[in-house]
Amino acid sequence: MTQRILLVIGGGIAAYKCLDLIRRARERGMSVRVVMTKAATEFVTPLSVGALSNERVFTDLFDLDDEREIGHIRLSRSSDIVVVAPATADLLARMAGGHANDLATAVLMATDKPVLVAPAMNPRMWTHPATRRNVALLQADGIRFVGPNSGEMAERGEAGPGRMAEPLEILDAIGAVLSRGATSAASLAAVPQMHVGPLSGRHVLVTSGPTHEPIDPVRYIANRSSGKQGHAIAAAAARFGARVTLVSGPVAVADPDGCTVIHVETAAKMLEAVKAALPADIGVFAAAVADWRVANAGVEKIKKTATQRTPSLELVENPDILRTIATNRAQRPSLVIGFAAETEDVVEHAKKKRKSKGADWVVANDVSPETNVMGGERNTVHLVTAKGVETWPEMLKTDVAEALVMRAAEHLSRNEAAAE
Ligand code: CTP
Repeated sequence: MTQRILLVIGGGIAAYKCLDLIRRARERGMSVRVVMTKAATEFVTPLSVGALSNERVFTDLFDLDDEREIGHIRLSRSSDIVVVAPATADLLARMAGGHANDLATAVLMATDKPVLVAPAMNPRMWTHPATRRNVALLQADGIRFVGPNSGEMAERGEAGPGRMAEPLEILDAIGAVLSRGATSAASLAAVPQMHVGPLSGRHVLVTSGPTHEPIDPVRYIANRSSGKQGHAIAAAAARFGARVTLVSGPVAVADPDGCTVIHVETAAKMLEAVKAALPADIGVFAAAVADWRVANAGVEKIKKTATQRTPSLELVENPDILRTIATNRAQRPSLVIGFAAETEDVVEHAKKKRKSKGADWVVANDVSPETNVMGGERNTVHLVTAKGVETWPEMLKTDVAEALVMRAAEHLSRNEAAAE
């Protein structure tokens, strides 16, 4: 049976790709009926769309002829799937808000068919909290997403997540949704959500928090790390569509949504959990791992006695988790990011650590008590790479996380594009 697509074209520069999408869909024997927003007609003409789809193109909710002949309710249900491409930030916002003030949004409100959305916008607009909120709302409503991809934007000098998925990717996604037999909006709840975002299909491994090294069963050596920065990185990677494994030392912050969290106490256990979680595309080593552990931690509580002198602790060095993973050829993540917690000569120490530990990037931060970085909400970081040092302005740790993860996503896609 012919598969029928109702294609809603939004007003973005990627609208031109819809011409190719229509052509390829028809080559595969599908029928394509098109609704264009007013803005879309500024980018491609209804005439060329109509010529390729071989169908009348609908643009206006108040076109009485259309209402008499077909009506937006019938139009919205006369297909097997509704595809929105390109879905601009504005169109996503209107969909999330339940607007129905033009034909495109009215059709999307009235449909009882699965809806697949191919976002396309500037990277900053895609990562804007308002867009993140709207995407989360739409996903919760059972709307499917394909893309966006990362790469160069139409605007010169802009790169990042926001490029519309290619027509063939959209066709594959259409096929995936239809083959799952999800024929109504309600039955879509049973279909597992595809990961959305620039890290879709990637595995990101993050260490976070301090480690606790036991002295005896009741005492331990620790540090002031709160885990806020590492946890925020894991959360950002999950929002960007990655599968995330977070290996966390003992912290008071909650497990971030959408991540597999492995709780450990000691550096040795953290290394074990990290190794078990490999392979990963990106490794972010944000944990403040204790450098030393007690050589022979007491099995029983160490007691004060009248005769014995104050006990002294013999320390041995812990394994360096970052170095172990960064220098492990067999399963090294494509991008290894370390942190450097320093109290003086921050950038110089970080540069040395990047080399000595084999990391690609090091995020350096000043953890002197007066900065309130350890335990606080804000951070001022320097990103040390092979190319040089960037000093970022003081930001919330959640913003540092978002910016870092976005950079990592861009780096991976740029490297892969270069390798092709
Ligand atoms: N790190 C690690 N395993 C360790 C020690 C550190 O994985 N046993 C990682 C941290 O997660 C961080 C980086 O190495 O990504 C640097 O940690 P930092 O505490 O700044 O440096 P140290 O290696 O501990 O060096 P020093 O204490 O001498 O500054």
